[in-house]
Amino acid sequence: MRCPSLARLAAIACSLAAVAAIAAPSADRDQVRERLQALLPGMSPADFALGSAAFDEGLRAQIEQNAGAASPVLEEGARIWKRKFRDGRSLASCFPNGGRRIAGAYPQFHPRLKLVMTLEMAINQCLKIHREALLETADPKTMGAVTAYLRSLSDGRRIAVRVPAGAQASFEQGRRFYFSRLGQRNFACASCHVQGAGKRYADAALSPAIGQATHWPVIRDGMAVSLQGQIRECLERMGAAPFPAGSEELNNLEYFLTYLSNGLAIKANAWRAPRAAP
Ligand code: HEC
Repeated sequence: MRCPSLARLAAIACSLAAVAAIAAPSADRDQVRERLQALLPGMSPADFALGSAAFDEGLRAQIEQNAGAASPVLEEGARIWKRKFRDGRSLASCFPNGGRRIAGAYPQFHPRLKLVMTLEMAINQCLKIHREALLETADPKTMGAVTAYLRSLSDGRRIAVRVPAGAQASFEQGRRFYFSRLGQRNFACASCHVQGAGKRYADAALSPAIGQATHWPVIRDGMAVSLQGQIRECLERMGAAPFPAGSEELNNLEYFLTYLSNGLAIKANAWRAPRAAP
């Protein structure tokens, strides 16, 4: 892989990508973890899951104060989850255990369709089977609320995303996306969230890549913001084309990013401060 002259941070991302190109998924994760732990000595992956707040006591206090902010979103999500379909079934009837303790396994590779299936896609697949109208993947009021509720049924469970045989190409595409410089500002995701982790950016501390997938959707200004919604904001920051929520590119990126958080506990419906300035 060629790493042409570019900003120093991005150059490190490029060399990291080159090294990881031949590695197995678990080796990728170990490598990112070692890099983060070298940059942020004394912090564990569980600390990383606090995101920006790991570096900001004031923000941690605010998060505790706002712990109940999700209730109206969860109520709406529960209503959608339990609503009876015309055939008498419901979303709850499509998933094992009524959807309890399943979220940690998503996104998951679907062997027959040969693609990465997010929790949002699994919800729409259920609606499709029962001939109900699908939900708009990016709509915070419907899909956002119902995924917030569904993930609350897995609160405290560990993320356990698998990369089975056949899934490597999708995982690899997500990994490549994460380490590739994109957009007008020549940043990779890794420039800010691996090499830049813990450093200040605008008025926020940059969250480390590991732990970033544990707490979605977040509740911001009373609305459920999905992981892909957040990624789209970061793509805009990078001056890169924000792929649509639910696109294969973002699904594979979410697959890679969530795999990095394997073993960490799901923290459903975390509150996050209003959007930082770009
Ligand atoms: C120019 C720096 C920059 C780049 C590049 C960038 N981000 Fe971000 N990102 C931010 C900032 C600033 C925030 C808000 C503070 C925080 O939580 O890190 C953020 C937040 C996030 C969060 C939320 C973290 C949390 O705990 O709530 C995720 C997830 C994320 N970014 C993923 C990505 C992905 C994936 C990419 C690549 C497509 C990316 N970011 C590229 C700056 C960046």
